[in-house]
Amino acid sequence: MRTLLLALTTALGLLGAPAWRQDDRNAAQQPVQPAPATARSSAVGNARKWWKEAVVYQIYPRSFKDSNGDGVGDLKGITSKLDYLKSLGIDVIWLNPVFSSPNDDNGYDISDYQGIMKEFGTMQDFDELLKGMHDRGLKLILDLVVNHSSDEHEWFKQSRSSRDNSYRDYYHWWPAEKGKPAARRSFFDVDGDGWELDKATNSYYLHYFSRKQPDLNWESPRLRNEVFSMMRFWLDKGVDGFRMDVIPFISKDTTFPEMPAQYNGDWGRFYANGPHVHEYLREMNAAVLSKYDVMSVAEGVGVTTADALQYVDADRRELDMLYHFEGVSLGYLPGSLKVPDPKGFSLIEFKNIYSKWDGVFADKGWGTIYLGNHDQPRMTTRWGNDAPQWRELSSKMLTTFLLTMRATPYYYAGDELCMTNIKFDRIEDYRDIESVNWYQQVKNKGGDLQAFLAAQKIAARDNGRTPFQWDRTANAGFTSGKPWLKVNPNYTTVNVAVDDVNATGCLNYFRKLTQLRKSNPVLIYGKYVLLDKDNPDVYAYTRELDGRKILVLLNFRDKAASVDTGLDMSKGKILVGNYPAPSGDAKLRPYEARIYEF
Ligand code: NOJ
Repeated sequence: MRTLLLALTTALGLLGAPAWRQDDRNAAQQPVQPAPATARSSAVGNARKWWKEAVVYQIYPRSFKDSNGDGVGDLKGITSKLDYLKSLGIDVIWLNPVFSSPNDDNGYDISDYQGIMKEFGTMQDFDELLKGMHDRGLKLILDLVVNHSSDEHEWFKQSRSSRDNSYRDYYHWWPAEKGKPAARRSFFDVDGDGWELDKATNSYYLHYFSRKQPDLNWESPRLRNEVFSMMRFWLDKGVDGFRMDVIPFISKDTTFPEMPAQYNGDWGRFYANGPHVHEYLREMNAAVLSKYDVMSVAEGVGVTTADALQYVDADRRELDMLYHFEGVSLGYLPGSLKVPDPKGFSLIEFKNIYSKWDGVFADKGWGTIYLGNHDQPRMTTRWGNDAPQWRELSSKMLTTFLLTMRATPYYYAGDELCMTNIKFDRIEDYRDIESVNWYQQVKNKGGDLQAFLAAQKIAARDNGRTPFQWDRTANAGFTSGKPWLKVNPNYTTVNVAVDDVNATGCLNYFRKLTQLRKSNPVLIYGKYVLLDKDNPDVYAYTRELDGRKILVLLNFRDKAASVDTGLDMSKGKILVGNYPAPSGDAKLRPYEARIYEF
């Protein structure tokens, strides 16, 4: 079966001084007091920016809070939870797409970029949400999905209507009389084919994602201007920036050559960094981004350490940050997209990847760090351990990692509760087009469906999309109706109501860590140094700024592990730990995380 899945997935192509110091052994349980930020940009050759100092919290609106009982989360639902959001100590909220959409890919197929998705509410609801955030000092970033639109967007309706329609060049068309163009893989198509024949004009259109997500043609200056004015529309409303969906894919070689052998079947890498992508991003920056004090972050699919700075070196005037896929791709079988390696992942490789990416931004640009989002399974299941005895400890350990690296953390809603994968047994429970269409592919090829479902229990995107768990009432307090996706049955014990009043629970651990990061600029700007790099069980590193030194120790295993930091541990003061009474020695308990000041 492994061979089959491999073949399938390959085919799919798919600080200043501290204001506080804790000496006693229960320090980790004490509330963290904020200290004034006095970081100097000179320490890292990187200018201070609000978005470098921010903790970004991502909300999948469909799954956060339903206000009207239709089973789908909505904007009013988010507004009703703003005090909770503020209490987390986060700064920026990223909302997945909220725009009009037929929801083939849950809003990543937009039919009107300036309209709100009916299920999510109205523009008035949006304006109230934005005001509510700003009133509380929270910023809002939106998802900019402009590699493709929905096939139900007016532009596409026009474009497909005739070969000489004025919108024809808004999309990529290939006349069928020239024969079928060179293969392009679609990540979601049931046949894996990125070209769809449209009978009306006897032409193929390009879709890297589903058939209902035709790729926009950025070669058209008119299209680019439409995108830029749409961005201004939202920025003029006061939004604080954009997360840019698959933005490295926007430029294509429109001669559509065969995929060069050097890419070795890696479609994401091949699709990224097209011939004019940096021209277009510079144009976007000059026309839009540079006019506002906003942040931009690219979903850096296909971008490597070799080309990352081309997107985010401030001197190039393109974007601010990008998030890479190298880390979250670890632990899947080589050549496959999402088949977990039965051996798990190598922590040494994990450390190497995150250290290498830190190095890219040592002097220029700025990094991001994340382990979960709407395209990923729950971080606790994937990178920690969701067995009952380890769920909280391992999840808090991962939170410690995310909040202490030199990069803007993108933290996914629900991870503050140590939420876990739901692990559906049946394809009927999945809603995600990716899982549903891959299943169909395996079936069409006579593959091992049980093995496919087993892999999806770890890797499927719906694991990260189950409704947010508010309390122990029906449907976790997410909706009074029937939830669009099943609620994880562990909601009776894993929820905000329980965790909020538990001083040592997941939620308050996250709050403590956001406070710690904010009150200690060394954790934001301080130099990162990896220690004990060949240790297969423990991730250890220091952060240093202006004479302050922080040590972070993270045991990634379900057994005790030792670490050799080369530091005199008796000199360290423990600031935070995920065990009730962290000891200062070099032996870490299972999934133990400790933060020290030296
Ligand atoms: C990346 C988004 O994060 C994902 O959810 C979506 O399916 C694809 N891009 C297509 O827009």
